[in-house]
Amino acid sequence: MKEIRILDKNFREMITEDAIHQRIGEMASQMNKELKGKDVVFLGILNGAFLFAADIFRRLEIPARISFVKLASYEGTKSSGSIKELIGWNEDINNKTVVVIEDIIDTGHTLQRIMDELVMRKAMEIKIATALFKPGAYKSNITLDYVGFEIPNDFVVGYGLDYDGYGRNLPAVYTLIH
Ligand code: IMP
Ligand code: MG
Repeated sequence: MKEIRILDKNFREMITEDAIHQRIGEMASQMNKELKGKDVVFLGILNGAFLFAADIFRRLEIPARISFVKLASYEGTKSSGSIKELIGWNEDINNKTVVVIEDIIDTGHTLQRIMDELVMRKAMEIKIATALFKPGAYKSNITLDYVGFEIPNDFVVGYGLDYDGYGRNLPAVYTLIH
């Protein structure tokens, strides 16, 4: 198994690039069917979701817009719990179907914060798509509509996810070796 080092930590390959792309193809087909005929805005959550958002978005065959917002709640390898400000809203989502695009959903705190904002801005319908999901860490009851991979409650990097800013460029997902 492929191992890499980022800063002071070692990681092992967990989801290959091929597996990610196959799964994204499946998710995009599902979206093409389910979102057909709707007025759709994709909302990518920066920084982590930029690769997943691009990969999903280019496979869409329905008319859709995309916009990005930024909000960070993570420092080092543990969720800090403190939620920072949301920046970059410029899309009118009133009466639209909003598809939130996340890299990973861990505790769900970030997602809750985004949901509150979407409800406040009167989105007509909200769908959640995430490349990775840690069911063991999830503390919310918001339904996730499109989940790429369910993973154990361990720290991962790659495919947009970082360890102290590094590792986002890795085309596969790697898990921390303890
Ligand atoms: P939540 O608010 O606890 O769901 O955390 C969501 C955010 O924490 C994600 O958007 C990531 O930026 C970050 N995060 C959660 N788990 C990991 C991980 O395993 N590796 C890197 N970042 C993570
Ligand atoms: Mg994120």
